[in-house]
Amino acid sequence: MKKSHFPIDLGVLTAIRQLVNSESTIVELGSGNGTNRLVAEYTVYSIEDDEKWVGYCEGSNYIHAPLINLDDSEDSIRWYNPEILRESLPESYDLVLIDGPAGKKGRAGLLSNLDLFRTDVPFIIDDTLREHECQVAREMAYLLNRPLYMFWNFSIISPTILTEEQVARIQRAALQVLDTEEQPYLESYFTESTPLTNINSEEWTEKIRELNENRLRLASLEAQSRKLDSLESSVSLRIGLLLTSPFRFVLGLRKRKKH
Ligand SMILES: C[S@@+](CC[C@H](N)C(=O)[O-])C[C@H]1O[C@@H](n2cnc3c(N)ncnc32)[C@H](O)[C@@H]1O
Repeated sequence: MKKSHFPIDLGVLTAIRQLVNSESTIVELGSGNGTNRLVAEYTVYSIEDDEKWVGYCEGSNYIHAPLINLDDSEDSIRWYNPEILRESLPESYDLVLIDGPAGKKGRAGLLSNLDLFRTDVPFIIDDTLREHECQVAREMAYLLNRPLYMFWNFSIISPTILTEEQVARIQRAALQVLDTEEQPYLESYFTESTPLTNINSEEWTEKIRELNENRLRLASLEAQSRKLDSLESSVSLRIGLLLTSPFRFVLGLRKRKKH
């Protein structure tokens, strides 16, 4: 059976896991089978234009926002009704996943409606191997003055600089997905379907192990330094008490005499 590219894949899921913790709330544009994976770990609000897919995943909070023409021009962009989004989007959320409207309908309407969303959270734009989605991601990063991290089939616009470890974990997962893709699918997006270097997830696993070791080493050095600090302050306290004991004794005597 042919693989469906509608649901989010392990690369996108890994990116989400690297960017937010499990108590987080995600706003998803475009719902489908992948929404089931999200609700297993997060609180999810799904913006969906197609009635057929509204309510598809029981655990998500659906916002039914049909597509409308954003202006009166002949070639007007169709996108989710912004008024519905303005009224229904939650106030607080931690990440926005852009995976809709469906490819053919286009996602460019997002660019003129960025003010509907929080801009202090990361955005993941799926399917940026396609030119249209790639262009939307580039423009968004430009409009928000944020770095754009591109993996082979999705991108991240983040308000913070990602760590080496986050990038390594996301890249490893993205490459694992790439390894399972069939040539005709890749050839429909890339001029050369065979990468010039081997897909080597081991390389990234090794990098992640190295970074983990360094983090553990640093944590143990910090713990040792804290121990030394507290030892030092307790020794100085004892020396201080010892040196001042004659004065404290005399003071005590004087106080007693006064009474
Ligand atoms: C790329 S899909 C969104 C996929 C969703 N984020 C997920 O991970 O499953 C974009 C739109 O296509 C429609 N859709 C979702 N799953 C579909 C499927 N398996 N086949 C056809 N259309 C689908 C929905 O209207 C959805 O808003």
